[in-house]
Amino acid sequence: MNETPVCRVAFIGSECYPFIKTGGLGDVMYALPRALIKQNCDVRVILPYYSCIPQKYREQTTDLGHFSMYLCQDGREFYVGVKQLDLDGVTYYFIDNEDFFSWGNPYTDLVQDIPKYCFFSKASLAVLNYLNWNPDIIHCHDWQAGLVPVYQKTLFSDTKIRHAKTIVTIHNLRFQGIYGAPHIQYWSGLPASVIYDYANLRHGERDANMFKGGLAYCDSITTVSNTYAEEIQTPFYGENLDSHLRYHSAKLSGIVNGIDVDIWNSSTDGLLAATYNADDVLEKKPINKRALQERLGLEQDDGKFLIGIVSRLTDQKGLDLINAIMPELMGGNIQIAVLGTGDPRYEDSFRYYEQAYKGSVCAYIQYNEELAHQMYAGCDALLIPSLFEPCGLTQLIAMRYGTVPIVRETGGLKDTVRPYDETINEGNGFTFDRYEAGLLLDAIRRANWLYENDHERWNQMILRDMYKDVSWENSAKQYLDLYQALRG
Ligand code: ADP
Ligand code: GLC
Repeated sequence: MNETPVCRVAFIGSECYPFIKTGGLGDVMYALPRALIKQNCDVRVILPYYSCIPQKYREQTTDLGHFSMYLCQDGREFYVGVKQLDLDGVTYYFIDNEDFFSWGNPYTDLVQDIPKYCFFSKASLAVLNYLNWNPDIIHCHDWQAGLVPVYQKTLFSDTKIRHAKTIVTIHNLRFQGIYGAPHIQYWSGLPASVIYDYANLRHGERDANMFKGGLAYCDSITTVSNTYAEEIQTPFYGENLDSHLRYHSAKLSGIVNGIDVDIWNSSTDGLLAATYNADDVLEKKPINKRALQERLGLEQDDGKFLIGIVSRLTDQKGLDLINAIMPELMGGNIQIAVLGTGDPRYEDSFRYYEQAYKGSVCAYIQYNEELAHQMYAGCDALLIPSLFEPCGLTQLIAMRYGTVPIVRETGGLKDTVRPYDETINEGNGFTFDRYEAGLLLDAIRRANWLYENDHERWNQMILRDMYKDVSWENSAKQYLDLYQALRG
């Protein structure tokens, strides 16, 4: 970075790879700051100092000091420790507090998470005031950082941090931090006029909504694809905030995610049985496929059509559609490999199918980074039939690894996977529109048909996918344009 950065940006969020990651938010909090640094931004990331952060990173932090902060309505004070870690040019500030961050992985339940993220949001601003660094932009991610803009424009309105512009990025509108208004009022210490105002936090008769408040108070709202930016303004996708978002639509826009192309690089990926690039993918992918079949206890057969699922196992991900068609899928040349954890009903149904179709189905019910890499490299196709998908990163990783995505046309899946068009032999994957099991089955059958019957076209699709630009470069430029427009 040059001496004078073009913009100073504080990222605030609840997870960030490699310290703590439960899904795509962790990837974005890692990769976007790096991409912005390449655009000469000074980006610093504020995170909770969870006790589940691996020891090797905890040991690398240095103490910057500590202070006490009022939080609750009754004036209770809490310890705020500030730690710093510099990793590959990005500065991370960790907020230390044993009461809030010593359990959970990192989330528990709302009874504990509401106080935790009230504390985190307020302490983030207090830390920015404490540091000798003034951001132009405070970029908040998801509901856990939702109260930051609210605090900034109320309890912090006469402190130095008031000059910064705030952005809230919606990674997933499903989670909003909704709880009884008195509970949120108590823990946040925010005035009743803010909590009980329908234009701000008030939600229904009894509740308050932390994300809703952030969306109202921030200077700009982004979400992680253009299609999701449109979708969330409709009742079906709006999670009861569609009218609030329509009201704020002038400050809402979509910027599609990318992936870190150094971490996700099949030519250097040390976790693979054989590394490869677009020149030798057709020779090397089968080596990865066989190694994966062996590791997962699937029949080792090059001719099988191996479909992977790498996912949180929640209803968001369209798993009901998969369950509905499993018996019809099985029996031919299809193999299914699932890597995921989540809702026990999905975990159990995949375990059941593994037993019922031994050698053709594997349910690997774990969170496992290493196996995820091997799945992206070894599978022929990756299945993502989501009910909704703000962006989705797994289809981007799959394409970069020459694995053909089969997706529902929603959110970022629609914006990033161009449907295969056999009349012109173009496209990146197989898609379907309405949330119907029959349409998913049809998309899988179309993919399977091409895989079996037209190797040339299938292989051309693999190459198109590998050459597709899924990096952060373009999107980081769009964020920078937004930062500069806000700063004026
Ligand atoms: P979401 O954020 O909704 O979970 P994304 O597609 O944006 O979905 O991101 C998911 C990220 O989490 C990807 O990096 C994916 O590889 C990773 N992931 C999901 N489940 C697992 C798992 N069981 N093991 C390892 N990585 C996983
Ligand atoms: C959320 C969304 C996912 C998105 C990720 C990163 O977890 O579910 O679609 O890719 O955030 O923005």
